Amino acid sequence: MASVLSLQGVSKWFGDVKAVDRLSLEIEEGSVFTLLGPSGCGKTTTLRMIAGLEWPDEGEIVLKDRTIVSVERGIFVNPEKRNMGMVFQSYAIWPHMTVFKNVAYPLQLRRHSQREIREKVLRALELVGLAGFEDRPAPNLSGGQQQRVAIARALVYEPEVLLLDEPLSNLDAKLREQMRLDLKLLQLRLGITVVYVTHDQLEALSLSDEVVVMNHGQVEQYGSARELYDEASTPFVRDFVGKTVLLKGRLRTVEGTELEVALSDIPDAVFHCPNPGMSGLDVGQDVFLSVRPEDVEVGDDLDGRQGNLLQGVVETALYVGERSECQIRVGQQSILLYLPRHQVVRPQQAVSVHLPRQAVKLWPA
Ligand SMILES: Nc1ncnc2c1ncn2[C@@H]1O[C@H](COP(=O)(O)OP(=O)(O)OP(=O)(O)O)[C@@H](O)[C@H]1O
Ligand SMILES: [Mg+2]
Repeated sequence: MASVLSLQGVSKWFGDVKAVDRLSLEIEEGSVFTLLGPSGCGKTTTLRMIAGLEWPDEGEIVLKDRTIVSVERGIFVNPEKRNMGMVFQSYAIWPHMTVFKNVAYPLQLRRHSQREIREKVLRALELVGLAGFEDRPAPNLSGGQQQRVAIARALVYEPEVLLLDEPLSNLDAKLREQMRLDLKLLQLRLGITVVYVTHDQLEALSLSDEVVVMNHGQVEQYGSARELYDEASTPFVRDFVGKTVLLKGRLRTVEGTELEVALSDIPDAVFHCPNPGMSGLDVGQDVFLSVRPEDVEVGDDLDGRQGNLLQGVVETALYVGERSECQIRVGQQSILLYLPRHQVVRPQQAVSVHLPRQAVKLWPA
């Protein structure tokens, strides 16, 4: 598929802070592309540069085959000429206007006829599930409804690209889940390209075709949700996307497809994991062994398992509905594990902990 939007070596300084650092992105037409990263990593700044609300200090931005920004060549296409819709984190809908007027505003700016405005506004409201709300004053709406008005307003002039900056962060958990589904359905129905900004990994993983994890204004890793979760390529991504159990050890042997690790603070604990072949690790080196909490098995009797076993003691077990979140002491360290909801364990209980060989990865310490 063709790339609809491309950023090439884009940077932005605010005084001494380099908010975005030579960022290059290729965004496929019709996809949901997400910028995921911690607070201050440059997500909003990137989105604002795409929208034309911020001037980059270096680099180029190309929309389809049109260069909309080139610092070198002195090109800067104004926001309203870029044909992009944007929804801000704060919604920014106008309280003194009705729902209809809020959504109609971008069309009035673009001097559409009254008849056309009416048709397009009603269609946009229908799309976001707000048919019949036209005459409602904007303040008399719930947070979720205001959010839908903001989305309708961004979609009403049929932009080529929709830019969404943490659009769900002001909603409560249940509504957020519903809006996440609605947004995905809407995007699929319209086939529109979406650039989505969030620091919420669940939102990023569930909505996106492609995610770029950002850190300090740079790309840490590109990939699908599954790639980022299963094949994190840096410690930052491993720890930022999902939860990880880390155990310290030393690489004892490398034998063909097998790595053997002795844990540092647990005598006689020896673990095996697959050798990815390019781990760049040397025998004798300090390493971290990582595993996703939900991949770990906990039980009274795991004797049937072939190795990779630890003895532990349950410290706390929090039942959170779909699972139990257990803190388990192994050696000097406490690890957080997720147990299936039907498995009951109690504080002080001695348990065996099994790290399946295929689920274990090694990192340089
Ligand atoms: N107008 C500005 N003036 C000065 N510094 C700014 C300005 N806008 C952003 N910054 C700085 O640039 C960096 C990136 O900010 P940005 O808003 O892009 O982060 P973000 O990833 O969107 O964070 P958050 O998740 O908190 O919204 C931060 O260090 C921020 O303080
Ligand atoms: Mg932001």
